[in-house]
Amino acid sequence: APRPATVTVTGGAGQIGYQLLFRIAAGDMLGSDQPVRLRILETEQALPALEGVVMELHDAAFPLLTSVETTADAAVAFEGADHALLVGARPRGKGMERGDLLAANGAIFAAQGRAIQERASAGIRITVTGNPANTNALIAAAAAPDIPRERFSALTRLDHNRALAQLAAKTGAAVGDIRRMIVWGNHSATQVPDLTHAVVNGRPAIELVEREWVTGTFVPTVANRGAAIIEARGASSAASAASATIDHVRSWMLGTPADDWTSMSVVSRGEYGVPEGLVSSFPVTCAGGAWSIVEGLAMDADVRAQLDASVAELAAERDAVRALGSMG
Ligand code: NAI
Repeated sequence: APRPATVTVTGGAGQIGYQLLFRIAAGDMLGSDQPVRLRILETEQALPALEGVVMELHDAAFPLLTSVETTADAAVAFEGADHALLVGARPRGKGMERGDLLAANGAIFAAQGRAIQERASAGIRITVTGNPANTNALIAAAAAPDIPRERFSALTRLDHNRALAQLAAKTGAAVGDIRRMIVWGNHSATQVPDLTHAVVNGRPAIELVEREWVTGTFVPTVANRGAAIIEARGASSAASAASATIDHVRSWMLGTPADDWTSMSVVSRGEYGVPEGLVSSFPVTCAGGAWSIVEGLAMDADVRAQLDASVAELAAERDAVRALGSMG
């Protein structure tokens, strides 16, 4: 068997953690022959509850799960980590201003970025799920300048999967029959779900759906799905967010199919006019544990305008955390 991979998950006592940890331990993320050592970072207050989750992880008797350790110390959590899944974040409390939220998360992700740089393995790959995910990834990357930029990512796979589900329901196809969906920009309501390159059973999606459905239903449904789930469930999406986090890392490590791509938020080098250094969602292919942005795609005028707005939001978030001193 291969050497166990060390996977560090933050916020493991939370809703997403309760789904994510079990999927990782089952081998869904890194493959069914890859043993895993789990490290879980939580706040001091949440450590007692986390002990219950650890008991359940043991009780599930996963053959691939080599060990489980918990800590409230980032230096311990990221020691030798091959994957850092940064899920824990400060939720917006009652009466909390947006600036307070950015400041609280800036402190968390800067500290974790520093600990990752000092402690993690040379092959570390970082996936940020905790919101605001793109900007939290930017903060962590700024705090860890010695780690290659391409090792930092943020989750827009849930948005990508939501877009697949909407197009499948509309066309009567199975999600597995759809290729080349894209989500561009920020993981927020300004995100840009884009089906103009998508193919359904070999046929261009734009030949199968009306333009009014795309702009009037598809884009707003995908972009506002998080709010719809909170409204229905009384709690934010957790199982689907965990599943998307699994999909994101699995694609990154095990690759995308030859005729397809996926969506990942990664550090821009200026592709598609997204300013260098912003963490934005792009279509990517993955092979050998590395992603590359799919370049040269023609961009629909609506998509271009929406992406410009989403990128402006990312730049404003960056400027706000810079002004707060969270970016070194
Ligand atoms: P939750 O509130 O149930 O759990 C968060 C956990 O993180 C808590 O147990 C908390 O103690 C812990 N935590 C807070 N600060 C921490 C720190 N400094 N170090 C370690 N742990 C810390 O939240 P839930 O539902 O699990 O969501 C987690 C995050 O994921 C939220 O920010 C949420 O907005 C985000 N999210 C992102 C999605 C995406 O697609 N990118 C989708 C859904 C949620």
